[in-house]
Amino acid sequence: MLSKIGRSLKSAVAAVICTAMAGSGFAASAKPAPAPAAEVAVSIDLAHPGPRIEPAVHGQFAEHLGRGVYDGIWVGPDSSIPNTKGYRNDVLAALKKLHVPVLRWPGGCFADEYDWRDGIGPRAQRPKRLNASWGGLDDNSFGTNEFMDFAELIGSEAYLSGNMGSMEPRAMNQWIEYISSGSHSTLADQRRANGRDKPWHVRYLGMGNETWGCGGNLDAAASAVMHRRYQTFIRPPSENGPLTKVASGGSGDEYQYTETLMKDAGKFVDAISLHYYTFSGDWSNKGRALGFSPADWARQVSRARNLDQYLTGHTKVLDKYDPEKRVGLYVDEWGNWYDGDPADSHGALYQQNTMLDAVTAATTLNIFHRHSDRVRLAAIAQMVNVLQAMILTDGPRMVTTPTYHVFDMYQPFMGATPYPLTLQLPTFEIGGATVPTVDGSAARGADGKLWLALVNADPEHAVRVRLADKGSAVGRILTANRMDAHNTFDQPNAVVPQPYSQRSGKDGLVLTLPAKSVVVVQLDMAGAAH
Ligand code: AHR
Repeated sequence: MLSKIGRSLKSAVAAVICTAMAGSGFAASAKPAPAPAAEVAVSIDLAHPGPRIEPAVHGQFAEHLGRGVYDGIWVGPDSSIPNTKGYRNDVLAALKKLHVPVLRWPGGCFADEYDWRDGIGPRAQRPKRLNASWGGLDDNSFGTNEFMDFAELIGSEAYLSGNMGSMEPRAMNQWIEYISSGSHSTLADQRRANGRDKPWHVRYLGMGNETWGCGGNLDAAASAVMHRRYQTFIRPPSENGPLTKVASGGSGDEYQYTETLMKDAGKFVDAISLHYYTFSGDWSNKGRALGFSPADWARQVSRARNLDQYLTGHTKVLDKYDPEKRVGLYVDEWGNWYDGDPADSHGALYQQNTMLDAVTAATTLNIFHRHSDRVRLAAIAQMVNVLQAMILTDGPRMVTTPTYHVFDMYQPFMGATPYPLTLQLPTFEIGGATVPTVDGSAARGADGKLWLALVNADPEHAVRVRLADKGSAVGRILTANRMDAHNTFDQPNAVVPQPYSQRSGKDGLVLTLPAKSVVVVQLDMAGAAH
């Protein structure tokens, strides 16, 4: 639990004056301007470990939208872009490095118009369908076999988003049978004829998407009835193993929606989803991916932080109906959403990804780690070329984004045991938004090591974070001079992690965080063994 003891940066600066970079151990290529740094005391409560951080909270989402799947992941085996069985080699390699724990597909809004039967069999014979949600034609060349193979190739669990909006439950159940039956049913044999003998495993099945909107325009009570009906008829073959059925839930702070779903259908579901997108403006004027102001930055960070209190609110409702904590809360769409640039030809919902995205991504992962009792899966929107993407492509070129690097740096937290972190927080104030300067997360990794992640969200000032104990910190830092610093196809390494290390002096271990930075370190502290 973070203790939010806000004090103005001014008084904090008066208390401790030092130079941001003095004594910091990160590489010379990350060179933000020196600035006075506030000081923050941090302590890690090793005596009270929390529930395991499920690796799946570092999951991703890929939809048939813009160039998210076609071009971004799939170019087909005949493409001149180097590929393995149709999947781009560059994207495959980048994703393998991240160890993506779970991948949600094929939507989004697209899921509720998708018929899986269109996407199996010889590709040349598959029907071409209009993508009613996002425009264009879908030739169905990326279908079930292609998705399941892809998930297997990158070592990810499959999270199928089922069509509850316009498909009968029988057909949804048959999808699972086609994929995972080891029998000789007609569907299982069809899978074999389509090139896959061994059954795959489907770990998660979503029941519809945003049923309150593009998934059917239902109210929560009507949606609950649908969930009861569909969950009844989804009976996966025993060879599939456990299948987690996820009811499409509300968004943001819609606690009443969660309340109605839990009251009317809670017994029938294994998890309820929640969607949360962040903008500095509103739905009609979301804000810009590049060239934004410090006030936009502050609002974006502040709104990303709101998810913390929303998760607390939804957890309260879930605790009322499910005190045993059986039902998970899955934030299966989240991220920054900016206004598109009409002149950009990179496809629907394509946006650049900057240091601001890195800061909010790291903050959001910290929030998930604090809610590990309920939040057992999350999926950033989206994987490639869409919204807050990990990867951007342009023809044969590919670039990884600052958000990708945050996910990479945070890998030690997958499957880790979190510890409560107490931070005395200065705040920064820009354009009317008052934002805590530092956010963090501490955990014992599956590797047995103690890990600490820290974010300095202040775009203008460095901060010093002090741990009382003696020891050392070794890891990486992501930072840049400009708020909207980003990687381009011509300059793919403008924002990449740099080595970072600190050793304690007489005052304990002090980590200097430059303005707008994310640091993940392994701590070696006196008295911090397990
Ligand atoms: O991620 C883009 C869209 O945002 C999804 O299709 C939908 O579920 C949400 O509104």
